[in-house]
Amino acid sequence: MSTNILGILNNKYDLYNPKFVESLFDKMSGSYERMNYITSFGFSEKWRSRCVDLIEIKPNSTVVDLMTGMGECWKPILNSIGENGQLIGLDFSSGMLKRANRRKQKYPKHNISLLKEDVFDNSILKNSVDNVISGFGLKTFSNIQIEQLAGEIKRILKKDGSFSFVEVSVPNNKLLNLFYLIYLKYFIPVLGFLFLGNPQTYKMLGVYTSKYKNSMKAKEIFELNGFEVQYINYFYGCATGIKGIKAVNC
Ligand SMILES: C[S@@+](CC[C@H](N)C(=O)[O-])C[C@H]1O[C@@H](n2cnc3c(N)ncnc32)[C@H](O)[C@@H]1O
Repeated sequence: MSTNILGILNNKYDLYNPKFVESLFDKMSGSYERMNYITSFGFSEKWRSRCVDLIEIKPNSTVVDLMTGMGECWKPILNSIGENGQLIGLDFSSGMLKRANRRKQKYPKHNISLLKEDVFDNSILKNSVDNVISGFGLKTFSNIQIEQLAGEIKRILKKDGSFSFVEVSVPNNKLLNLFYLIYLKYFIPVLGFLFLGNPQTYKMLGVYTSKYKNSMKAKEIFELNGFEVQYINYFYGCATGIKGIKAVNC
């Protein structure tokens, strides 16, 4: 695994290979939640809630949380859909899903299903979902994969169904940008070493974020696929996202 990471950092392997991404998150799963909270100075929680609140999620509806991880986005979703709604969390990392399963026990009255599947080969029925959410699940996709993702979301969403995604991004402001890149390149690997004994693994998150930059490309891709899309800035562009609707002619 660390040989692969070094290979990827040296551009020898494909950064977006799903097997590599899966093993990366399996490896990080024990420390991801703590790391995520600390490294975002607590902002990640707020950004997830905002991401969910940006679209109208009605009581009793069916919501899919793609790249659900350990269910970090669930709380605001469950608050909206209530006990008669349906939440489907999808992820392919066993390590992350093991922890999502633990979180599920905290909500015994809610209807939560977990799918251990690749988003590009999923069993969700077409036109069956009211809303799709994804917190920090876009950066590990290439543009071609984001195009495929748009196709999958178009397939599973009902007409007039809506989606909202948020992703960590590189801010445009020069000072923030400098601080942010130093932070991703040096500070996060040090924390990764402290939590995981391995700075390379968390360094990868910085590599993905630098390549992702912001959600502008995702906006273009979703628009080209017929969605009505709006670009969202979170805290001066430290995270960005898109939200949108599967319009009637989509
Ligand atoms: C950065 S984590 C985000 C977790 C969570 N949504 C959050 O808000 O923190 C990204 C998740 O996407 C999952 N993932 C990445 N590519 C995937 C794919 N092709 N199919 C399913 N899950 C995928 C990873 O396993 C990981 O758990």
